[in-house]
Amino acid sequence: MDSLKRLEELRHLLAEHSHRYYVLDDPLISDGEYDRFFQELLEIEDKHPQWITPDSPSQRVGGVPLDKFEQVRHRLPMLSLENAFDDEDLHAFEDRLRRFLMQEDAPNYMAEPKLDGLAVELVYEEGILVQGSTRGNGEVGENITAQLRTVSSIPLRLRNGRMPRLEVRGEVFMDRFGLVELNRQRADAGEALFANPRNAAAGSLRQLDPAITDQRPLRFFVYGVSEPSDTGCKNQQELLQFLANLGLPVNSHIRFCPDMAAVIDHFSNLSALRHELAYEIDGMVVKVNDFALQTRLGSKARAPRWAIACKFPAIQATSRIVDVEFQVGRTGAVTPVATLEPVDVGGVMVSRATLHNRDEIKRKDLHKGDTVLVQRAGDVIPEIVKAVVEKRDGSEQPIVMPAYCPVCSHPLVKPEGEAVTRCLNSHCPAQRLRSLVHFCSKAGLDIEGLGKKSVEQLFELELIQDLPDIFFLEKEALASLEGWGEKSAENVVAAVNQAKSPSLSRFLAALGIRYVGEVTASLLERSFHSLESLSKATVDDLVAIESLGEQVAQSTVEYFSDPSVQKMFARFQEAGVQPQIVSANREKLLLSGEVLLFTGSLKKLSRTEAKKLVKDNGGQITSGVTKKLTCLVVGEKPGSKLKKAQEQGKRILTEDEFLHLLESV
Ligand code: IVH
Repeated sequence: MDSLKRLEELRHLLAEHSHRYYVLDDPLISDGEYDRFFQELLEIEDKHPQWITPDSPSQRVGGVPLDKFEQVRHRLPMLSLENAFDDEDLHAFEDRLRRFLMQEDAPNYMAEPKLDGLAVELVYEEGILVQGSTRGNGEVGENITAQLRTVSSIPLRLRNGRMPRLEVRGEVFMDRFGLVELNRQRADAGEALFANPRNAAAGSLRQLDPAITDQRPLRFFVYGVSEPSDTGCKNQQELLQFLANLGLPVNSHIRFCPDMAAVIDHFSNLSALRHELAYEIDGMVVKVNDFALQTRLGSKARAPRWAIACKFPAIQATSRIVDVEFQVGRTGAVTPVATLEPVDVGGVMVSRATLHNRDEIKRKDLHKGDTVLVQRAGDVIPEIVKAVVEKRDGSEQPIVMPAYCPVCSHPLVKPEGEAVTRCLNSHCPAQRLRSLVHFCSKAGLDIEGLGKKSVEQLFELELIQDLPDIFFLEKEALASLEGWGEKSAENVVAAVNQAKSPSLSRFLAALGIRYVGEVTASLLERSFHSLESLSKATVDDLVAIESLGEQVAQSTVEYFSDPSVQKMFARFQEAGVQPQIVSANREKLLLSGEVLLFTGSLKKLSRTEAKKLVKDNGGQITSGVTKKLTCLVVGEKPGSKLKKAQEQGKRILTEDEFLHLLESV
């Protein structure tokens, strides 16, 4: 079969299976089979880049990092909703509708779960996704097209839909599993956790580098269009069916309700169901079904008259702070954790809650012995909302951060401008143990048989004290330990040996450098040839990498300049540990650390091809002559950017020189 035909067939197959998997949640083929089709498509597109179209499944991540988000004016404003909190508010809503419509009959409704994420608008032209934006202030949002393209349940091309233009609206969100997993990674990287799915979704979509958004497990449900009359549908029920037929994901818990009693009934269904759903909902949206009635009802300043959000009550309970413990984390951060009288918060028993840090304790004015309001924020992490001051009897004690590390007794410090109190003793046993646990864990080198319990045991017996010790473990010594045997000892030694050649990114993430989690680690792998060159990098070299901030750069440089870290690396080497570059071919990384910009008209390459070449060779693209720019490639009629770059002494290449450079690999 000729390649172009096969390519079209593969695109069709992949779109079909991706729709079944992400939208219908009903896959027909295994992940492995899907990956094989995808690989085949990539190979054909690699040979024939001129055949790549924007709706190809390979084009989900392809956007270049931005300097800032562009603004987008919504053709029709994206409104918000008024709130109802109970049945009474819902009846009042219906009374208002009747009065406004001057009719006795009440309308019928659609009742939809209110997803806790971020509202977005997607514009399809001739069935192709051409623009995606945030709601912003309702009138003007931000252009996050490249970021939204990475969300697998958002179709890049609509099925059997060829309308000239369709603006759909819906919610992007992160499901519970995705949030827990992302927070686990962030905790491992010493980064702040997302308190709820809305923040996680917003934080993930507002990443200037779409490659980062791509790593975040985001999902999408559609709930409307900007202009229903464009679709020929008469009511919301028909519209949702119409959107589902176009391949857009529609939530399965949406109900048609003939009257308000059915709406109230569905509200109690959803209240009971919400804890079983894979994603967070914070209420239900009730919409007048009929579009003609919606039009007659119209809108007030910010919200339509034809819809209302009925919110679930917050899941809160009261308990008492029995005691406060201080935990020392991998990076030395000392976190106060309250022990609570166990309490049921929306079906989950809570007996501990983090108090975050000294400033938080002060802000909430918390004391030992206080009666407190506890909630599961975003239904995930238990947190203390406030102290119930009226319940104080004078026996409450202030919570004082310790002056010395509770584990190694080293004096603690609270660095200027930081909220965290830290133990700076890098030999602190608590930090070393946590580093070891992390190093062997799934987020680290994933060494089978060296889970938390075993690592703790080996640490206590002083068989391992420092990361490289792992690689010197001997079978005989392990086999004689309590709970171990010949077989388990042999397996661990084999797993340790296997872990001697991890990918560089995995190794970096395992080391536990502050702020360097999985995503940053793979950025670093892509930009440096080896551990050695990374260890010599300066802060400037690092910040030249798009989407890598000052803080990460600083902490990485500090890490590698610590003499005890250098000693540790010598021991890794002695043990035969050799991280491998896998994220790109070694010889292809010619543009590592380079930040390029194209200006003027190119003769041999399209802009897309040029940008792809840069990315494939480990380089970055920027959109202006900025500090980060390292090289300007000029085509014909280059304009003012050339002058500016010359003034700043940047490296300048012609299009031919650029191509020549890459061919010289
Ligand atoms: S309809 C004019 N339907 O709730 C209609 N909104 O304050 C406005 N939301 O910003 C939106 N699920 O992010 C609608 N099924 C649903 C929704 C929903 C969640 C969010 C949306 C909007 C906010 C309204």
